[in-house]
Amino acid sequence: MSFDLIVKGGVLPDGTQADIAISGAQIAAVELGISADAKTVIDASGKLVSAPFVDAHFHMDATLSYGRPRVNASGTLLEGIALWGELKPIQTREEIVARALEYCRQAIGKGVLAIRSHVDVTDPELKTVEALLEVRDRMRGLLDLQLVAFPQDGWYRAEGAEAQVVRALDAGVDVVGGIPHFERTMADGAASVRAACELAAQRGLMVDLHCDESDDPMSRHVETLAAETVRLGLQGRVAGSHLTSMHSMDNYYVAKLIPLMAEAQVAAIPNPLINITLQGRMDNYPKRRGMTRVPELRAAGITVAFGQDCVRDPWYPLGSGDMLDVAHMGLHVAHMTSPDDMRAAYDMVTETPAHILGLDYGLKKGGRASLVVLDAPDPIEALRLRPARLHVVSNGRVVAQTVPASTTVLADI
Ligand code: FE2
Repeated sequence: MSFDLIVKGGVLPDGTQADIAISGAQIAAVELGISADAKTVIDASGKLVSAPFVDAHFHMDATLSYGRPRVNASGTLLEGIALWGELKPIQTREEIVARALEYCRQAIGKGVLAIRSHVDVTDPELKTVEALLEVRDRMRGLLDLQLVAFPQDGWYRAEGAEAQVVRALDAGVDVVGGIPHFERTMADGAASVRAACELAAQRGLMVDLHCDESDDPMSRHVETLAAETVRLGLQGRVAGSHLTSMHSMDNYYVAKLIPLMAEAQVAAIPNPLINITLQGRMDNYPKRRGMTRVPELRAAGITVAFGQDCVRDPWYPLGSGDMLDVAHMGLHVAHMTSPDDMRAAYDMVTETPAHILGLDYGLKKGGRASLVVLDAPDPIEALRLRPARLHVVSNGRVVAQTVPASTTVLADI
């Protein structure tokens, strides 16, 4: 028997050793000591071999636009939204496509093979939507791009935005988005959550809302999101992204809210790199940390995945597309430093977001042959070192390789 590709001697994230044999775009076997021939053999002896990284929350229409037309002086979410509003009318579809493809190239090099990207639909020409639909097509078979119809300037606050969401879905965008905390009033925000969930229920789609992304302890949209999810029978198809206001909420109220979210099976997608910088900007000391209550949500059985959110755009000047950077920051902010918690942080940028996106995923016989070989022996060392992705395989094809940097210390120690 001959295979197309065998990855030999690797260590899976759960610590078991296995060779992985691949035929075409499928995994043919995951077992120790595969001795058959293969056209290509990757020696992964002692290296972590993982299913690919998955980013559950990104903005690919804005990525790599940092400085255009100016930088965000205050560092706040609201100035970022205003700045994006300045860029929207002056950017072309071609440059959105070019930036997004460049980002995909960088992400693939880091072993990211699936991304859920929000796409702003409030541009009347839908340039952003058309651009990212093109990128989704061009990436097919290489990187799974799932798109969320995101009315950045408000479902009701921006004139015509609700109709634009529908137009974007008609054009092929996958998921219903929203931004209830940016509506004019709390009541408008709640109404926008209801409208988004009803639209998703009518069309059989998933929902992923930017929800309660503020320092306001009274923001209540995730409560509405959980209630609407139950009312419309959308359990397991709904995610609340950011949820930063939860860090400021009254503990008594949160003790009611988290069970509501668990009942509704609403997933949570915190974005630690971005919200540690955007939130708390109006605080004196102590300054709030800007991330939702990750350990408490996980303890209640809620699905929680870390997202990247932004790379070099109106909201964030840094970022590299490396989901290990995201998990590294996330575990710090969430105090997730026990060995079990650190392993969980690795899952929160691999398996968990794959589950939220509904992907065919995982290193198993018959599964898609997509994987990453890392220059580290296990997930915790991978988080500590954020090492080279030695080989990235997508649907049976080796799509990226990295030669690790080599340092020689010349000092006499
Ligand atoms: Fe976001």
